[in-house]
Parts: sequence; structure tokens; C-alpha cells
Amino acid sequence: MVSRISQQVIREVIARTDMRAVVSEAVRLSKAGGGSLKGLCPFHNEKTPSFTINLSQRVYYCHGCGAGGDVISFVRETRGLHFGEAVEWLADRAGVRIEHEDLSPADQRRRRQERSERSRLLDLNAAALAWFQRQLEGPAGGSARAYLRERGLSDETVARFGVGCAPDSWDGLSNDLMSRGFGANELLQLGLSAPRRSGDGIYDRFRDRLMFPVYSAMGDLIAFGGRDLGGTSNAKYMNSPESELLSQRAPGTQGGKKFYKKSHEVYGLSVARKGIRTSGVAVLVEGNLDVMMLHQYGVTNAVCPMGTALTVEQLAAIKRFGDRVALVFDGDKAGRAAMMKAVPRCLEAGLDGVYVVLPDGEDPDSLLRTQGLEAWDQLLHKATNLITGWVDAMVQQWDGTIRGKAEILEQVGPILATIHEPISRQMAQDYLGTRLLSSDIEDNLRPMRDYLSKTRPPRSAALIERPAPVAGPPVPPAELELARAMMWYPHLLADLARVQALDLVTHVGMREALQHLCSHAAAVGEVHSTDLPGWLTQLPDDAARRGLRAALAQPPRVNMEDSVTYLEHVIDRLEIADLQAYKLSLDAQVRRASDDTELIALSEKMQAVVRRIRELNREMIAPNATDADASAPAEVSSVPAPSASPGGGATHEGSVHV
Ligand code: UTP
Ligand code: MN
Repeated sequence: MVSRISQQVIREVIARTDMRAVVSEAVRLSKAGGGSLKGLCPFHNEKTPSFTINLSQRVYYCHGCGAGGDVISFVRETRGLHFGEAVEWLADRAGVRIEHEDLSPADQRRRRQERSERSRLLDLNAAALAWFQRQLEGPAGGSARAYLRERGLSDETVARFGVGCAPDSWDGLSNDLMSRGFGANELLQLGLSAPRRSGDGIYDRFRDRLMFPVYSAMGDLIAFGGRDLGGTSNAKYMNSPESELLSQRAPGTQGGKKFYKKSHEVYGLSVARKGIRTSGVAVLVEGNLDVMMLHQYGVTNAVCPMGTALTVEQLAAIKRFGDRVALVFDGDKAGRAAMMKAVPRCLEAGLDGVYVVLPDGEDPDSLLRTQGLEAWDQLLHKATNLITGWVDAMVQQWDGTIRGKAEILEQVGPILATIHEPISRQMAQDYLGTRLLSSDIEDNLRPMRDYLSKTRPPRSAALIERPAPVAGPPVPPAELELARAMMWYPHLLADLARVQALDLVTHVGMREALQHLCSHAAAVGEVHSTDLPGWLTQLPDDAARRGLRAALAQPPRVNMEDSVTYLEHVIDRLEIADLQAYKLSLDAQVRRASDDTELIALSEKMQAVVRRIRELNREMIAPNATDADASAPAEVSSVPAPSASPGGGATHEGSVHV
């Protein structure tokens, strides 16, 4: 840089600069004692402030990343300017005149060439904006002005957001900018123009669009958004492309920085920063026009992300001005999906607050225009807490299965763990725990209870008259499976007892053992699988104890997605075994029957039994894994168990399971 700025001028600029005000544009500062200020470092990502300013010495230093310097280096680093440019920028603000007249013409030219690329591009965007704004006021702006009227945007709002327009022409902007000395390659670099297909020359990229300037939080004009006016374009919005700027030093980066990175920028922040700072809250909506309309209605803290998915970087930019957010989503499917994604980003960024999903089909713009500010205020008044609302929504997605619960914990747990503030984090985690627990009791067990109350009564009512329980070992496989189910899912013990599933157990020792377990559960309130080994030692029946110990040692091998399905399966198996045994005894009676009336009665019973077995087989959910019994110790069932391995207990009633 050809810098002829004297040391004296530099000292004067520093002396006349309010360092606190300059730094405040990038960092939210708070008092740190001893005449110093602190805030979140703009040069690296952090959640607790380690960036400090010593006001009396006029220097800053970050204990986290080591960045430090005076106000000139701060402006240089945060705004990506060269030293001389930073001094000029500050001089301009402080009202200090810098004379360049003493430069020779050659030095002046070199000075222009050596201006940072960033400064040149900022100048180019400023020239483009001036042209867009002239178009909106001139003869080519008729349709854009009509559109703004139709959308209900006032001249004041249009001026506040610097809106302009690109008319339906091919080279107006490109010609204007090149006539002002900008190079075609620079116009291409900022995406203001596109190369002609013939390879010869350039043409305007934005045509027949309302043009919104996009400013960085620091107030630099870094991009444009262009909303289609004619309805002829496929793209409702066309935005500036992201442009690479090499050889720039910038906050938190080593070398190059993007001049404009969509996912880092927030539309409206330069206008809303004051409103956010005074209220402490940023209202985050989805669209540019929503932001403008909100400001028009006096909601001066409204912004929207550039690009659809809210990012941590955008939230970090917002956090420089306020600690809380009110996220407002459009009342459509995309809006609801966006909410689910946005809340975790807020927690990561250390922002708390609320969210609202608007009524179906509404966005803030339509809501304000049809129902006014009052309806808006009411909606925000009823907004949902960010953390609990999101946890509720996540829990609602839960399918009630054990595996689903694990998945929810896996997804939600790590996100809640990012909440920096320990008390909020603990509260969020506790809340998730209660939600999963209470849903567990109410929702997860409901299908089980419905199932049990629906299917059990017909069995006992229609088909009493059962064979006497078989005494002594071995325990039939279906009964061992029930034992395993109860040992592994002890939270269902009370339900099993209530529906009298134990009546289906033929092995006396096992039945007594399981009854004992149920009373134990009823007595202590809740049994955990880990309590069971101790409890087992008290069991009198050897076979039952051995069976239960084996059941406890080996988890259910069936690959059911949850305990409810698994238990349904087990009970179906028990009932089938029970019916099979009953059918055998009916067979014997049929063989012994002496008269027709007896035979008819028996065959009616037989038909009912067969029907019920068929029904159960159809209903029964087959486990996905290989048959649990096939690999279990070879217990020989004393009844022909339909659930035994293929070729084991044969049944004529159709397939029992895989
Ligand atoms: P919306 O479709 O909600 O646009 O997209 P809007 O701002 O409300 O505009 P109107 O009311 O339909 O005229 C929300 C935001 O998503 C981005 C824009 O920033 C827009 O403001 N967007 C949308 C795009 O970048 N490209 C698109 O094609 C559409
Ligand atoms: Mn809209």
C-alpha cells in the first residue's frame, strides 16, 4: 500500500475514535471491571467471553485465541481491509480529513490498484445498488413500483431496505458499471453479469426483478437478492452467487474468505440490529418480504436467514446483538420441518427463546396484511418454549418402541448436551426424561393393554375345561419364553398379572415362580432386571429357578422391535400351546366317545379350538431372527408345542412362525 498517511494523522484518528463504539458493531460488550470490557471473541468461536478491551490503553486482547491490537487492526481484521483503508474508514467516521493530494499521479494509480480486492468489490456493489435504485425511480421501474404497491410496501419501507429493481433488459447494468471503470471480470465475480454464450462479452444476470441489497452485520453491501417480477422466470428468487476472495485476512480465517457466504449472512440484520439490541430478542422469519413487512408494522427486530436452513454462523451473528430469538415459521410442511432443524442450531449457538408455527398457509406478511399487528402479537404471546416445545415434538415422533426410545435419546441427548448454561441443560435433560417416562407409561403400554384386553377373554370364556397342569420338569419352551419376557421386561409384570397370562403356564413350579415374581413386583413397586439374580436365589422350585436363571442369562433372541410386540408374540405362543394341549385331550375324548350327541358336542368344541388356533397363527407376529427355540437348550415339551422348532412339535394348523 502506498501509504502517505503520517504518524501524526494516525495518532489523531486513534485519539478521536470511540473504540467502544467501533468494536460494538462486531461484538456485544459488557463491563468486566477495572475499566475494561469483555465480549465473545469475533476471531474465534466461543461461548464464554475471553475477548477483552482495555479502554485506557485502547487495545484489545483475546485470552482464547491470542488475537490483539489497536482499533486499526480491529477494523482491518473484522472488515478485511488493508491498513491504509482501515485508517481511512476510521478517519471518515471520526471526521479527520486525510489528504492524498501530495501523491504523484503514478502513486495515485498504484494506490487505486492496491486497494484491497474487498474494497473494490464493495464499491462495485454500491455502484450496482445505485443503478438498481435509479431504475426503480425512473421510467423502467413502472411495473416494480406497481408490484410494491400491490404488496402493500410503503415508500418508507422501500427506502429503509434500499430496494431497487432490475428492469427487463439485457445489458443496462453491465454497460453502466463498465462505463464507470469496473472490469467485466469483477462484474462476473460478483454475479452481477454472466458471460455471453458466444464467449464474447457479458450480459445482466438480474432481469425483471425487485432487488434487495444484502448487508453484512457490519453494514457492508455484500450481495443482492432478486425477486422475480414478471412471473416468467423459473426461479422466484435469484441471489448473488458466493464469491471467493483469496488473499484476504478476515475474522477467524487464515487466508481467504468468501466475500459473501449465504449460510453466514442474515437478511435485515443491519436494519434490525438496533431493535434486537434494545429488546434483546431477534424475530427470525423465513422470507425477505416478511422481514420488510414486519418492520413496516413496527416489528423492528425482524430478520431472516439468507438461504433456507438456519445455520450456527447466522445465529452467532445475531447473538452479537441479542441473547434470545423468536423463531417464526410459515404454516406449511416446510415450515414445520424447518422448525425441527432450527431449534438445535439455536441451542448450539447458545440462544434461548420461543418458536411459533403460523396457521396453515400463512406467512408473517400475509398474516399482518390480513389480520394486523394484534393477531401477530397474540401468536407470539402464545409462542412455545424453544427447548420444551422441541423436545415435545421429538417425543411425539416416537413410535413407542424401545428401539425408538433409544433412537430419540441418541438424537436428542447430544443436542441438549450442547446447551452451555448448566442449569438450563440439566432442566432440559430432566424434561426429556420425564416426557419419555410419562409417555412410556401412558403411550407405550397402551397398545399392550389394548391388545391384552381385546384378545384374552374369548379364550377363557369359550374354552374353559383345560387339562390339569403338568407337574415337574422340563418347562415347555413357550413358558420359558414367557419367563424370559418377564425377566427382561419387568415393567410389564403388573399387566401380565392383570390379564392372567400366568393361567396359561402349565408347569407348576414355573407358574408359582412367576406368580411369586409378580407379587414381588407388586410389593416393591418396580422391579429392575438387575434386582432379579438376588431374587432368584429365594425360589424353592429347582426347575423354575434353573429355567429363570437361563432366561435371565440370555436376552430374548427374537428380533422384535419392542417389548410389546415381543410379549404379544409370547402370549400368542402360550395360548397356542394351551389350545394344542386342549385339542389333544379333545382328540382322546373323540376316540372314546360313545354316542352321537357327545360326538357332535366334541366336534363343535374341536372346531372352535381349531378356528382359534388359526386365528392366533394369523395374528401372531413372526420374529425376524431365527427361531429362539431352535437354539435354546433342548427342553422336551410335555405338550406338542406348535412353537417348537420346525419338525419338532408338529401342527396342522398352519405355520406358527418362521
Ligand atoms: P418464500 O417463498 O417464503 O418467499 O421464501 P417470500 O420472501 O415470502 O416472498 P413472497 O412473499 O412469496 O413474494 C423465503 C425466502 O427463501 C429464499 C428467499 O430469501 C426468500 O425470501 N428463496 C426463496 C430463495 O432464495 N430462492 C427461491 O427460489 C425461493
Ligand atoms: Mn411471502
